Amino acid sequence: MPKKPSTPGETEKKPLGHRLKGKGAEGKQPSKKPWGGVFDGTTDARVEKFTESVSFDHRLYAQDIRGSIAHARMLAKVGVLSDGQCEQIVAGLEEIRGEIESGQFVFQQELEDVHMNIERSLVERIGDTGRRLHTGRSRNDQVSTDMRLWIRDAIDAIRTELVDLQRAFVSRCQQDHGVLLPGYTHMQRAQPVLANHYWLAYCEKFERDLERLADCRTRVNQLPLGTAALAGTSIPIDRQLVADQLGFAGLVANSLDSSSDRDFVIEFAFDLTMVAEHLSTWAEEWILWATSEFGFVTLPQAYCTGSSIMPQKINPDVLELIRGKTARVVGNLQSLLVLIKGLPLAYNRDLQEDKERLFDSTDTVRACITLATAMVTGMRLNRQRIAARLEQGYLDATTLMEYLIGLGIPQRTAHQIIGQLVATAMQKKMALAELPLEVFQAAHAELDHRVYDLLGVQQAIQAFKSYGSTAPDQVAKQVAHWRQQLRLEEPAEQEATEPRPNGTEG
Ligand code: ARG
Repeated sequence: MPKKPSTPGETEKKPLGHRLKGKGAEGKQPSKKPWGGVFDGTTDARVEKFTESVSFDHRLYAQDIRGSIAHARMLAKVGVLSDGQCEQIVAGLEEIRGEIESGQFVFQQELEDVHMNIERSLVERIGDTGRRLHTGRSRNDQVSTDMRLWIRDAIDAIRTELVDLQRAFVSRCQQDHGVLLPGYTHMQRAQPVLANHYWLAYCEKFERDLERLADCRTRVNQLPLGTAALAGTSIPIDRQLVADQLGFAGLVANSLDSSSDRDFVIEFAFDLTMVAEHLSTWAEEWILWATSEFGFVTLPQAYCTGSSIMPQKINPDVLELIRGKTARVVGNLQSLLVLIKGLPLAYNRDLQEDKERLFDSTDTVRACITLATAMVTGMRLNRQRIAARLEQGYLDATTLMEYLIGLGIPQRTAHQIIGQLVATAMQKKMALAELPLEVFQAAHAELDHRVYDLLGVQQAIQAFKSYGSTAPDQVAKQVAHWRQQLRLEEPAEQEATEPRPNGTEG
């Protein structure tokens, strides 16, 4: 029975529907390897199993075929292949692609990797002409080309998914307009913030991720094909012709560098790691917010799971796994960094270990982004519950301090005065706004009846002014900016202008 290879971390359910044929322990046949010429015997079956990569690099089949077609067309243009030979090769490769996609193609472990499986199959189909395809290239530049094509596609897909996530955050701004949240530092209540300010904070983080990915793409988008094994080739190839066909913006300039270079994989893995880190902190926050202790959010039940023993439980497992899976994404980055650290130039087989790490990080982060988008859209802010305790924690103390500074009191002095007032209020179990005027007057003569126009979170939030702050007009500008950038439709007039403060559930 042909067996599908098991791939650690492979989450793509049905990439090809292909089958893989392994060789049994008997395996003593003459070498079928494309590199078998110099060998006088067969490869130990355990070595084949140990060295194969086709069980995971089969995922590069589409890129491999695309690259080979571009290479063949170039070889025909420069006269290394006749037009007829080129067309035969292209037709053969397209047939192979069809078979892989319909699940008929049988990948063979003894043919090591996706590149040799496809090439062998081509030769079986079209005979000797197929043996000309590998002219002027090596698997070293071939695998790098395939991976660059694969990562380029992955970057484009992830960027689209990240923009959808940003849209989900910005879309919250309409329904949560005017809602206040306690802002925290050290996980202690600090100052009030607008819910919309909070949503846009994540938008900014994912914007940096988007920029990093776009920047990474410029270095990914350089063609290595034609740098051959390590030194280039004496065949009169035209690398630019290949780059043009494959949409690469330039050519990797140094063949030795190219053959050994996996910077682009690591860079991409880092960018993915930052996305995972951002998602993980968000997940952690919402796990806390969904507790009975906080009760700030109600998570959409479709993204929660229950307990097999405690019937009342609605657990935030998706959030926990978004946080948990960040560990493997960080681990993959670490593995890649360690992988290349001692490699002399140029290609070394160690580099084959990059693929599973790359695929796993990509699959993991993409799944996390998609689920996060759904949860951001589906969650409910428990406004009444949040509002009921907004006056706890002296969120307005800093505003009162800044008011004193505005009256000419040095910051350190103002800090001291308000600190003492907070201590008094704590003792009396009161909010600052509940303290009688005498207490303020005793603290500082300038603290008169006007303090009552300033205290309380609803008033305190109005005092913010600085660019980038949670000031309502600043946040409104930012919301407008993001709506425009993300091409979100303007909300209905009245919803945009009328705040729906805490105290109304939504
Ligand atoms: N499977 C190999 C890899 O992933 C392809 C390149 C092999 N090159 C070689 N010279 N053995 O790196």
